[in-house]
Amino acid sequence: MNILLTGGAGYIGTHTCVAFQEQGHAVIVIDNLCNSRAVSLTRVEEITGKPVTFYPLDLRDRAGVQPVFERHPVDAVVHFAGLKSVAESVERPLMYYQNNIDATLALCDVMKHHGVKNLVFSSSATVYGNPETVPIKEDAPTAPFNPYGRSKRFIEEILTDLHQSDSSWNIALLRYFNPVGAHPCGRIGEDPSGVPNNLMPYISQVAVGKLPELMVFGDDYPTPDGTGVRDYIHVMDLAEGHVRALEKIISGSGLVTYNLGTGKGCSVREIIAAFEKASGRRIPVKISGRRPGDVPAYYADPSLAEKELNWRAIRGIDEMCADAWRWQSMNPAGYGETG
Ligand code: NAD
Ligand code: UD1
Repeated sequence: MNILLTGGAGYIGTHTCVAFQEQGHAVIVIDNLCNSRAVSLTRVEEITGKPVTFYPLDLRDRAGVQPVFERHPVDAVVHFAGLKSVAESVERPLMYYQNNIDATLALCDVMKHHGVKNLVFSSSATVYGNPETVPIKEDAPTAPFNPYGRSKRFIEEILTDLHQSDSSWNIALLRYFNPVGAHPCGRIGEDPSGVPNNLMPYISQVAVGKLPELMVFGDDYPTPDGTGVRDYIHVMDLAEGHVRALEKIISGSGLVTYNLGTGKGCSVREIIAAFEKASGRRIPVKISGRRPGDVPAYYADPSLAEKELNWRAIRGIDEMCADAWRWQSMNPAGYGETG
């Protein structure tokens, strides 16, 4: 199949390009490179030995995107493109709504125009807000509490309306938990700009000596060791989840929603210990106050994806940390240093 990946030059997109190419699909990428670099796609080509067709375009530029659909007989679209920093979304909500929602509207419009009605959308577990119970099932109430999370929930609703208006659309809403790790070859990985917000890239940069110490945001949560608990999922497992979701929608699924997580909660302390083991380096740690907006614990009930997609995350935290460390130590400056 010909699969178009919006935002395909980014962290999850590059790993998913690899997964699709390894299944024999052709990939076409649209990305405006606002949070990525084109060299990431050269690395994908290097890993798979197959070409990636790349269009450096903003998805909101309909006149630019239209010809891509004219040139390629696109079978399905996987829509990763979006801004993803919670803190930035609180400071610049209009930018988040404009980018994430307008890009999706423009994309769907062009898809509709070309009769392409198979879509996989990158949503987030953040749509659940502070869950009433864990593990979280797909039918749990949604209550996102920041503009980023709300942009994801609004898009889910827009896509639900689209499917209601025309049931020939097949749409998978994938709610990712906490993607971490990297391709095991160490050539592609997460390359945050500036100081990382998220735990795994922060620890990696402490381990490699770019940052002095890790601040643990609270050790007084009602969790087994007092630190926050999350469902970390290896990005390669996540990428394979997209392959299965695509197979599902191509078979005529209608609108479907899946949690993509491992189902296992892991604390900040457990991640630190696993990373120290993987890297052979000690991570200096300082306990600080809780980060505003953090919830004590959330992890997925991934059983629906297991049942309906025949997909399950198989990689554990030792592998996640080993692969994250390999990427970080081989590319201390991310994609910046090696070009
Ligand atoms: P990323 O920033 O690495 O990738 C997103 C890509 O989209 C970037 O390459 C960026 O340049 C591109 N982009 C953004 N706006 C665009 C636009 N208007 N036109 C064209 N390209 C545009 O992020 P990621 O971690 O790979 O995340 C991919 C998707 O998954 C995002 O939608 C994100 O919100 C979602 N998600 C990510 C996480 C996570 O922890 N990484 C968790 C849940 C959901
Ligand atoms: C954050 C976002 C969430 C987004 C997700 C993407 C917030 C409030 N939430 O989730 O919307 O979908 O990233 O992966 O920003 N921690 C530290 N020190 C650090 C960084 C993190 O102790 O320097 C702790 C956090 O308190 C948390 C855990 O590590 O308990 C994971 O944090 P993080 O990687 O930022 O992910 P989330 O908070 O789950």
